Amino acid sequence: MRVVLIGFSGVGKTTLGRAVAEKICFDFFDCDDAMVSRTGRKIPEIFKTDGEAKFRELEFEILKELLKSTTGQNCVIATGGGVIENSHSCELLKEEINVLYLRCDKALMEKRANYLCDRPILQASDWQEIYFRRESLYESVAKQYVFIDENLEDNIIKLFTVLGLR
Ligand code: S3P
Repeated sequence: MRVVLIGFSGVGKTTLGRAVAEKICFDFFDCDDAMVSRTGRKIPEIFKTDGEAKFRELEFEILKELLKSTTGQNCVIATGGGVIENSHSCELLKEEINVLYLRCDKALMEKRANYLCDRPILQASDWQEIYFRRESLYESVAKQYVFIDENLEDNIIKLFTVLGLR
């Protein structure tokens, strides 16, 4: 089984994905980490120097390669929050069986935006508009969603329930 997590920057895709994978002995992959390893550059720097359009193309390539290399593997993949901004990436995600949309309420998102200083999108003055605009994009590719709160253990249980693992 391959599980792909999508959702807004800072919602906890990496933290939850890693924790869930560890519990069920699945491999874990993070698209942002794969991009950093491949380019040898940090995400904010790629964003700033190359621009968002280039970043999205690179993000699509990395997602495509990761999906290809993990075919038939038990794994959890955390995507970057803006992966759904690229229509080619959306097409790939639509073909997946277990794409889970991690969503949370606006208050929790606001709280996280205040301390996640390394996320370019959350530092944008209009991040809330981006957040609402992206909702329908996440919904268009997700097979199911998980409503995230602040408790990691609760979130793990919710994700297992959605996947029918308990
Ligand atoms: C982005 C989210 C980030 C990262 C990049 C762009 C976005 O990933 O891919 O900074 O556009 O929302 P996280 O969702 O892990 O923060």
